[in-house]
Amino acid sequence: MSDGPAAPVIAIDGPSGSGKGTIAALVAARLGWRLLDSGALYRIVAWAALARGIPLDDPQRLAAMTRALAIEQGATAVRVDGVDVTTAIREERISVGAAAVATLPEVRQTLRGVQQGMRVAPGLIADGRDMGTEVFRDAELKIYLDASVEERARRRHKQLMEKGSSVSLRDLFASIQARDRSDRNRAVSPLRRAPDAISIDTTEMSVEAVVAEVLKHVEARGLTAGRAREGEGSRGGE
Ligand code: DC
Repeated sequence: MSDGPAAPVIAIDGPSGSGKGTIAALVAARLGWRLLDSGALYRIVAWAALARGIPLDDPQRLAAMTRALAIEQGATAVRVDGVDVTTAIREERISVGAAAVATLPEVRQTLRGVQQGMRVAPGLIADGRDMGTEVFRDAELKIYLDASVEERARRRHKQLMEKGSSVSLRDLFASIQARDRSDRNRAVSPLRRAPDAISIDTTEMSVEAVVAEVLKHVEARGLTAGRAREGEGSRGGE
């Protein structure tokens, strides 16, 4: 199933706080391509399991549950079996649960099918940890975004302050370091740069500059040709 689909994929991987989500959404909007936020899928599995009382360390039940979920990932909202979970899956307890279910090969294998099923014309922007190394090894373009731990903690701090929550920069620094460790040292599909990925260090770059840099590589690979063929009318998703 991973071989041969015609639609091109741009894989954007990197650690938390590297700006992947923001950049992937902007590039998807710019190209009129579908966006896959793969982290949201792990969050959905944790959310659904907690709602059903399924233990987060029971791979068989989690995989069976995941296969039965109707997941809709639109441009602005995520629904599971018709329920809007956009906000609920961002809660801290879900972040912790998502990190736990992400260590289970059975869950990763089930979600791999869901992710590959999202590869539709005119193209897919896939944001995650293992998009270029595992799920879309044949992606037409692989980008690895990174930034210093200090800068990623500062960005997260700013976001949280804007939302009115006060967490110390020091605590955020420690929690980002802990997440890096678990993402990179996990036995299955650890976060790492694909050998054929283009690395962009966003520490001192603005969002606009990163988007421009990614689009430069998109153009260099001739990936915008499909868009011209499809025309503006193909833009959209939901
Ligand atoms: O990017 P995020 O914080 O929404 O990701 C939630 C969790 O899922 C996080 O623990 C990393 C994990 N994840 C993963 O293992 N593989 C992916 N492709 C995306 C996320």
